Amino acid sequence: MNKSLHNKVIWICGAKSGIGLEVAKQCLVLGARLCISSRDGQVVEELQGSVKALKCDANSQEDWQQCADQISQEYGQLDIFIYNAGDCIYVDDVDIKPGDFKTMMNINFHGMIKAAQVTLPLLKKTDNSQFVGMASSVAWLALPRAEAYGSSKAAAYYFLKSLRLDLSNYGIDVSIICPGFVKTPMTDKNDFPMPFLVSAERAGREICQGILKRKPVIHFPKRFTYLLKFIACLPHFLQFRICRSFVK
Ligand SMILES: NC(=O)c1ccc[n+]([C@@H]2O[C@H](COP(=O)([O-])OP(=O)(O)OC[C@H]3O[C@@H](n4cnc5c(N)ncnc54)[C@H](OP(=O)(O)O)[C@@H]3O)[C@@H](O)[C@H]2O)c1
Repeated sequence: MNKSLHNKVIWICGAKSGIGLEVAKQCLVLGARLCISSRDGQVVEELQGSVKALKCDANSQEDWQQCADQISQEYGQLDIFIYNAGDCIYVDDVDIKPGDFKTMMNINFHGMIKAAQVTLPLLKKTDNSQFVGMASSVAWLALPRAEAYGSSKAAAYYFLKSLRLDLSNYGIDVSIICPGFVKTPMTDKNDFPMPFLVSAERAGREICQGILKRKPVIHFPKRFTYLLKFIACLPHFLQFRICRSFVK
């Protein structure tokens, strides 16, 4: 990997654990000037001293604006923004709870919209900037129990694809991250087998390589993501038969 993140100002939302933490470590290795926003405004011990810590609940427009103002004042530019914050709630026994859907949409989708509102003006002022958003490979194919999580990630995926078109006139690239299963505190809660599970370290490397290559869609592990893409291309009755076999 080359050193092309050297001196870039990168802001990651959600880097206290899992994928975001590993992306943060890679960004530092590659020489970035890193800002991390989290709900408590703290960073994990191993990153302390190397990064600027900001306090931002992804659901608070006020927090977003304050962070953007701080970054603008301190650096005067923003090269790359990465929206990684997220959570997952599965639907059990087809018990549809509107509150769970709201929680999923708020953190996985509306938080990203709030972030875009304050980061795009900064990215527009910087040459060759990038907006990177976390979706999921679940956005391509409806899976059982994923009514809430999958809907929020599909919304994020569509938003990012559409944004990519509109930002092309401004010289801002948009990258959409679509991982398969990654071992993190979020997936440690899962009670089902996760095919082709990869480590958070590998996810961090794949994401940073994808950002460096300015890939429109960063997806991994390929054996899993191409399989999902293939199933999603099949006629609906075949998709149904395959995906129904995953129902417990
Ligand atoms: N792991 C997978 O298999 C997988 C697959 C596809 C996509 N993803 C996506 O990858 C992203 C990272 O997930 P992960 O697996 O690495 O899980 P994780 O370790 O639980 O990380 C989730 C991150 O989101 C932050 N967060 C949650 N709610 C927030 C809020 N309201 N405001 C600000 N930050 C908030 C958390 O910060 P706190 O420490 O404050 O909670 C944490 O840094 C998520 O968007 C997830 O949907 C994961």
